[in-house]
Amino acid sequence: MSGLFITLEGPEGAGKTTNREYLAEHLRRAGLDVVLTREPGGTPLAERIRELLLTPSDEPMHADTELLLVFAARAQHLAQVIRPALARGAVVLCDRFTDATYAYQGGGRGLSLPRIGALEDFVQGTLRPDLTLVFDLPVEIGLARATARGRLDRFEQEGRAFFDAVRNTYLQRAAAEPQRYRLVDAAQSLEQVQRSLDALLPQVLEMNARG
Ligand code: TMP
Repeated sequence: MSGLFITLEGPEGAGKTTNREYLAEHLRRAGLDVVLTREPGGTPLAERIRELLLTPSDEPMHADTELLLVFAARAQHLAQVIRPALARGAVVLCDRFTDATYAYQGGGRGLSLPRIGALEDFVQGTLRPDLTLVFDLPVEIGLARATARGRLDRFEQEGRAFFDAVRNTYLQRAAAEPQRYRLVDAAQSLEQVQRSLDALLPQVLEMNARG
């Protein structure tokens, strides 16, 4: 038995946290076993790696260190949470996954995409998300929302050029593989975003029924 692996992506301030709860609730109401989780994190050890990644520090983190920490957290999360849930047939709803590595470490930091691909194969084998929702919005809106939330984490402290590259990478990946990605316009009001998610739900239920 194999479940459904859905990932949510997008920049800071795109409303992923609110919308992941909304999606999880609707899928549960439809009778599905839903595991809601996030990256980096999702297990106690992986959450400790998340702290290392997000906390600003006096010692600059080398980009390769960042890349390896992201995949170290992912290996733990896959082993402890994602693979067991998929094996029992659950729907795994994951707030960020390897598309974020392509966007932030690849686009933002400029690390080599083939190197990211090699780590992706090493850590995940052939496992890839079945469906990826990209919450897209103009960089200045995302940054303004993140700033309004308060103290900025290590990624949120990056500048405009970094987040332009993040956004462009997501958009390029979504355009290259339209069968896996769905773009959600996150600049709309929350109600409008949730109406777009409502429209996606039947597709998700059908994908789940197909197994
Ligand atoms: P968030 O999940 O609260 O948005 O914060 C996680 C941060 O980690 C976000 O700025 C994106 C970053 N990140 C990466 O840089 N690479 C990754 O592979 C993942 C999963 C997240």
